[in-house]
Amino acid sequence: MSKPAQAGAVLDRILTLELARVTERAAVAAARLRGRGDEMAADQAAVDAMRRELNRLPIQGTVVIGEGERDEAPMLYIGEEVGTGKGIKVDIALDPLEGTTICAKNLPNSIAVIALAESGSLLNAPDSYMEKLAIGPGFPEGVVDLDYPPAENIRRLAEARGVDIGSITACILDRPRHARLIEEVRQTGAAIRLIGDGDVAGVIHTTDPAETGIDIYMGIGGAPEGVLAAAALRCIGGQMQGRLHFTSEEQRARARRMGITDLNKKYKMEEMASGDVLFAATGVTDGNFLKGVKFAPGKITTHTVVMRSLTGTVRWIEATHTHLDKFDNEADL
Ligand code: FBP
Repeated sequence: MSKPAQAGAVLDRILTLELARVTERAAVAAARLRGRGDEMAADQAAVDAMRRELNRLPIQGTVVIGEGERDEAPMLYIGEEVGTGKGIKVDIALDPLEGTTICAKNLPNSIAVIALAESGSLLNAPDSYMEKLAIGPGFPEGVVDLDYPPAENIRRLAEARGVDIGSITACILDRPRHARLIEEVRQTGAAIRLIGDGDVAGVIHTTDPAETGIDIYMGIGGAPEGVLAAAALRCIGGQMQGRLHFTSEEQRARARRMGITDLNKKYKMEEMASGDVLFAATGVTDGNFLKGVKFAPGKITTHTVVMRSLTGTVRWIEATHTHLDKFDNEADL
């Protein structure tokens, strides 16, 4: 493998494009089962495809955010080693099918997603919840903060943008646990986009409000998804904070076993994903920032975004795959 090209670079930049192949394959595998009401089958297909492609990459990769712990996840479990075993040591956070339910129902914004960073630079988050707050780029550092009440964050964001509060839209997962948050945000006069699932996409949507209509992401979702979203924002720009949220003593014990000593710590984006970070996502179903996989006679079209924190480059890749026999036979393409 060639040497990294730029000062401060640890990862070979060609890996950014290699990651596109990994998420493309996972997305196509899941998309074949879109709208079939079978979350498990779609997830398993995406896992199998992503693992197969990852094992073709010239890396010594360790999954730090994956499908779960070894005893509960047969593949892509936390600690699993992936790649050819030759090349740089990297940490990998992945979700082969983020939004399993939305894929099963064929609703918007399910994606195949992965982040890769030099060893030791992704937060080893437990499989618990995380309180998240995210906005896009272009604002003074600290304009919003998890320690402020939600209404204060909305007000401060509107002021920083120089718009009325009524022009702000917050994205929040539609969950009973968010009843109070939703009420508080509504009282400010801001609008809310309630999403059924898929908060990695929800966070990324804040980076392009003109396109997505979302200015701020608020609320509690999965901690692993929080690390993936932080990796994306490290690359595109924006601000994000996260705080682990536990619903049982067992979850707290698990977090301690994973080396987390301060269970109430407020993590900055850079503490969740530091150093040279690569990120890729491919749309499974149509969404606000990525189109879903399109199947047509003799071809499959995929839409992928790949990014790198070191350079801030964001590439949108529309790929047409025509050797469908190879796709179906899981061959190297
Ligand atoms: P899955 O892809 O694992 O189904 O996760 C979907 C998701 O909506 C995430 O985007 C989000 O972080 C998490 O679930 C929220 O968890 P819960 O459904 O328990 O509220």
